[in-house]
Amino acid sequence: NKKLAIAIDGPAAAGKSTVAKIVAKHLGYVYIDTGAMYRSLTYSVLKHKIDASNHTQVVNHLHKITIDIDPDQQVYLDQENVTDDIRSDVVTNNVSAVATIAQVREEMVLRQRKLAEKRGVVMDGRDIGTHVIPDAEVKIFLVASVKERAQRRHEENQQKGFHSDLEQIKSDIEQRDKMDSEREVSPLKKAADAIEIDTTSLSIENVADQILSIVQQKM
Ligand code: C5P
Repeated sequence: NKKLAIAIDGPAAAGKSTVAKIVAKHLGYVYIDTGAMYRSLTYSVLKHKIDASNHTQVVNHLHKITIDIDPDQQVYLDQENVTDDIRSDVVTNNVSAVATIAQVREEMVLRQRKLAEKRGVVMDGRDIGTHVIPDAEVKIFLVASVKERAQRRHEENQQKGFHSDLEQIKSDIEQRDKMDSEREVSPLKKAADAIEIDTTSLSIENVADQILSIVQQKM
């Protein structure tokens, strides 16, 4: 079987990572969460009290840090495990501003392309099919209604025993989608040759099965 690159893009909380992990496991591929890379930089920028509107400082900082994700999806920033820290509300609410910086994206895309070089990858994000791996054999664009996405995130939080405010989640998601879609450099956008799947009323397993059958046809 030929080893492929599978790009999964879509708005915040559309289920990309959950589905990407299932697909990768099934195929024996490596899953790469590019959002975790932007989140790690954002976490570090906040920690070092760097002003995110100072683009030069943010870019210089990125060149000084290492971001590693192990096969169990543990995220390391300069060898320190930041897996949980990068999911905090403060990181979530600042990441899109950091991700609009052109030179930040340039460097991230270089790192991501290197990870995808050998194929056999499932990569999720916002610009994978359009910019990072434009020649990916399979491109999926996952969407779901804002209401459904907020509801899923809300239930996830409640299961983890976290405080959760549905209306707040909804407005945060809308705000992040707006910034990600309207930014100048590689905005969130469906690639012309991507297959769109609306997951609003579908189960995770159903979505993963649909993607796997698309993949089978390309092998
Ligand atoms: O995927 P996740 O929601 O964790 O991504 C966090 C943020 O990182 C996104 O809202 C977006 O601003 C940024 N991002 C990006 N390009 C990617 C992946 C994530 O701009 N490929």
